Amino acid sequence: MADHGGSAMTQEYMSSLDETRAELSALLELVYERTGEDFRQYKHPSMLRRVLRCVEAENAGSLHGLLDCARRDADCLLRLRAALTLHVTSMFRDPAFFRLIKERVLPSLQTYPYPRLWIAGCSTGQELYSYLILLDEAGLGDRCALYGTDLSDGVLDFARAGTLDASLLEDYEAGYRLAGGQRSLREYFEIEGRYMRLRPGLLSTASFAVHNLVTDASFNEFHLISCRNVLMYLDEAAQRRALEVIHDSLVPLGFLGLGNSESLMQALHRPDYERLDPAEPLYRRVR
Ligand SMILES: C[S@@+](CC[C@H](N)C(=O)[O-])C[C@H]1O[C@@H](n2cnc3c(N)ncnc32)[C@H](O)[C@@H]1O
Repeated sequence: MADHGGSAMTQEYMSSLDETRAELSALLELVYERTGEDFRQYKHPSMLRRVLRCVEAENAGSLHGLLDCARRDADCLLRLRAALTLHVTSMFRDPAFFRLIKERVLPSLQTYPYPRLWIAGCSTGQELYSYLILLDEAGLGDRCALYGTDLSDGVLDFARAGTLDASLLEDYEAGYRLAGGQRSLREYFEIEGRYMRLRPGLLSTASFAVHNLVTDASFNEFHLISCRNVLMYLDEAAQRRALEVIHDSLVPLGFLGLGNSESLMQALHRPDYERLDPAEPLYRRVR
């Protein structure tokens, strides 16, 4: 006998799932229309988790309630945008990766008269600062250019300022040493109370600009592109597009660094890359 009760429940479940998807898409569309920040290509389960936290924080009762609130109240919309954005970063995050950069990549960059590096999705700048310091120690400090880009304008203001919370210095110092740093990290900063600021001049080779890896095109050619912990938030189609922009921006024999849970799986040009290390996601474009 057919289980009508079961199939009715399944139908109800499927239609509530469709409703959730539609409401989530409407929220992401609203954020895009009103703020220009585009989360529509992000993996939906991770967006949903963050949106549901926002439903609770705003006391909105449901996704529909949050949609109503965000339509009416510009502050609610900005809080929602902030909840969707993930800017977690650190200096010498994954020190073994930076040790490999020092040992395998910098000697090759030294052979170029003026190497260019692109730190895509650089957040508040700590990743780019890590490269700056390693380049300085390799004698490349004043003959290189670093470009830090991010989807979000707000984080780039922090990146440009070069100011960090001084209480993090010890943690950063530990990462720097594990990455093979030769001095003391303190030498690169001036401590000002609770803050530390990169020494004047260190940031002179760095430029920052808004760039969306999914919707914007390539803007230059680079010898190293570091795009760490960004692809992991994008759905497969968006990862493919971002990897195309990266491919178009990398010189032959250029290097590409990804985050530890990222890979070239979605890359159309995957055969053009050789992985340089079994443990670290560092690649070289060989064709
Ligand atoms: C988790 S942080 C990683 C920061 C840094 N790369 C690191 O590994 O420490 C991810 C950053 O990627 C940025 N981002 C996300 N999607 C992006 C996109 N489509 N284009 C450019 N940046 C993006 C976010 O704004 C955020 O600042």
